[in-house]
Amino acid sequence: MEKKVCAIYPGSFDPPTLGHLDIIGRAAHLFDELIVAIAVNSAKQPLFSVEERLSLLGECCAKLSPTVRVLSFEGTLLVGFAEQVGAQVIVRGLRAMSDFEYEYQMASINRQLNPEIETCILLTSSEFAFLSSSIVKEVARLQGDVSQLVPPNVLSALKEKFAS
Ligand code: PNS
Repeated sequence: MEKKVCAIYPGSFDPPTLGHLDIIGRAAHLFDELIVAIAVNSAKQPLFSVEERLSLLGECCAKLSPTVRVLSFEGTLLVGFAEQVGAQVIVRGLRAMSDFEYEYQMASINRQLNPEIETCILLTSSEFAFLSSSIVKEVARLQGDVSQLVPPNVLSALKEKFAS
């Protein structure tokens, strides 16, 4: 019987950007199933609640592919959550060399924790190489135009958050 490969794409997604959707769309083509996993970090104060992020990402992913699901996890290691949902691969996007050290560290510790789970790094498409959720929040907070950087539902949500 054919073996199905399930991948997990973890992140904070506060908020999701077109760079994230680029990776999700491409990973969805590579793997039989893709779980986009929103990591809830109680030490951080996010702009969007986990419920808001689940809803925003859920809307975007529904349009991208029927094989993508959006879940959240909290208080557990990524590899532990990957085991729980049956994912064999962790997907991460790499924008520039500045990301490399952190991604290398994360992939290495995750491999040490569970050598059965591989990390697969996808290079971000060049048009999104400069893009991050932090940049988007900063520009939107100061009323700058982020319409080319985020999907329409995130754009509306940002406008609501920063309506003065
Ligand atoms: O979008 P981000 O903030 O760069 O994502 C980082 C994330 C959430 C993938 C990473 O912090 C993570 O995996 N957190 C879960 C806790 C964990 O497993 N930590 C050990 C590996 S860094």
